[in-house]
Amino acid sequence: MRELHPHPHEVDDVLADLAADERPVPSDRPWVMANMVTSIDGAYAMEGRSGGLGTPGDKMIFHALRGLADIVLVGAATAREEHYRRPSSVPAAMALRRDRGQQPAPRLVLVSRSGRVPDDQPFLTGEGPDPLLVHPAGSPVEVPEGIETMSCGTDGGVDLVELLRRLRGEGHQWVLTEGGPGLLGQLHRADLIDELLVTTSPNLVGGGDVGLLGHGDAFAQPRSLHRLWMDDQDALFANYRR
Ligand SMILES: NC(=O)c1ccc[n+]([C@@H]2O[C@H](COP(=O)([O-])OP(=O)(O)OC[C@H]3O[C@@H](n4cnc5c(N)ncnc54)[C@H](OP(=O)(O)O)[C@@H]3O)[C@@H](O)[C@H]2O)c1
Repeated sequence: MRELHPHPHEVDDVLADLAADERPVPSDRPWVMANMVTSIDGAYAMEGRSGGLGTPGDKMIFHALRGLADIVLVGAATAREEHYRRPSSVPAAMALRRDRGQQPAPRLVLVSRSGRVPDDQPFLTGEGPDPLLVHPAGSPVEVPEGIETMSCGTDGGVDLVELLRRLRGEGHQWVLTEGGPGLLGQLHRADLIDELLVTTSPNLVGGGDVGLLGHGDAFAQPRSLHRLWMDDQDALFANYRR
């Protein structure tokens, strides 16, 4: 992995470099990081999943960011379609988390309107806390064992501002969202994304699964490039901040 901006050098320890960045925690919600991968032409999935877009460098960053987070927040479609597991920590992250006073691994939080959790989902079992499924009040939620539920918001969907406020109230400081585009677009339109890490995978894909922010109303907001990395497979990793 090589840093191209702002200080060109070989990156020996991705986790250490990302951990060294300041992430000041607002008083009313956690600091929100978002991590997504896209093809050159803006596709977020190949054959319905993002895995085919990843590179070894992308995986390193994915795990490093999880190593920093208290919560991994995703839309339920992403958890279902990508066969999510409970997040675990690589050994280097465990030590870092201990020093930072964090739990051994982040907790998985899903938002859902349908409350649909098929009982074969890998995240229903395994080490770490049971994931939390957050749904709007009044939605029909019947989930299998291995997941907690909480209502937040009304008919339109989960109130993401209120959800983040509650997570902060529980002491969580850093939330990492891994999408998908439906959730990320809402977080963006509510101006809740502090830091965005976008991997540009060196692939042309085409198809209709295009656009990291889904299909809601436009809300343009400038971002500054905090750093740019590149791996041996020609993937680019851009880290943008407000
Ligand atoms: N390239 C990448 O980095 C990346 C990352 C993640 C996902 N993906 C891909 O993106 C695709 C899925 O995209 P998507 O936009 O459908 O994903 P998504 O945002 O993960 O899921 C949308 C679903 O999340 C729930 N949801 C979202 N906002 C909600 C709210 N405010 N309140 C309640 N529930 C809410 C709903 O779940 P219910 O259906 O349960 O009601 C909704 O159907 C998959 O192909 C996946 O592989 C790509």
